[in-house]
Amino acid sequence: MAASHIRPALPVDAAAIARVHVETWRTTYPGILPDRYLVNLSPAAYARRWSVLLGQERRGRRTFVGVDGRGDVVAFASCGPQRTALSGYGGEFYAIYVAGEAQGQGWGRRLLGAMAQDLLDVGVPAAVVWVLRDNPSRWFYERLGGQRLAEQPISFAGARLTETAYGWTDLIPLSRLAADPPVG
Ligand SMILES: CC(C)(COP(=O)(O)OP(=O)(O)OC[C@H]1O[C@@H](n2cnc3c(N)ncnc32)[C@H](O)[C@@H]1OP(=O)(O)O)[C@@H](O)C(=O)NCCC(=O)NCCS
Repeated sequence: MAASHIRPALPVDAAAIARVHVETWRTTYPGILPDRYLVNLSPAAYARRWSVLLGQERRGRRTFVGVDGRGDVVAFASCGPQRTALSGYGGEFYAIYVAGEAQGQGWGRRLLGAMAQDLLDVGVPAAVVWVLRDNPSRWFYERLGGQRLAEQPISFAGARLTETAYGWTDLIPLSRLAADPPVG
């Protein structure tokens, strides 16, 4: 078995990322997003969307995948320029999703570290993440030092929701997490 690792995503990863994307949305968002929306998520449609997105990485979004010892993509994360207007934070973590069976093994920590290093490499020292307030995974960001910055209402899939922003003013400590060994 090869060692598990994190690497930049390639267009060929689109279908595997889409599988993790749809699976994690269906396990994370029941009771938060409408059931109808979750039932209708299509891995094939997301594979097409990811294929397009991964072909446009130079527009600012960069995506990483976590690959386990069998060579399977078990996690992904994306970052890039901040899309909202929180001053002093040039970067944003857009997404971070770890497949159910791989959660709790350090993938989230290492992916956040890889994104922090990536933003530092392009001269961005600080970043935010927006997370649905009702998503219990937001404690992950608190555990990793994110400071609660702001809340905003959003409409998504016909639901009225609230997002919370967490921020890191210094990505250097976070970037060191990329080197953490996987658990287990
Ligand atoms: C949230 C998520 C990315 C965390 O990744 P992970 O690989 O499971 O987490 P890690 O194993 O790297 O854990 C890192 C630390 O965060 C803590 N942590 C992880 N999830 C947590 C949670 N839901 N609540 C509290 N702490 C959490 C871990 O206990 C660990 O703490 P430690 O340093 O004391 O050991 C992952 O569980 C996930 O994909 N969840 C579902 C999708 C989701 O909600 N994504 C975020 C959308 S904004």
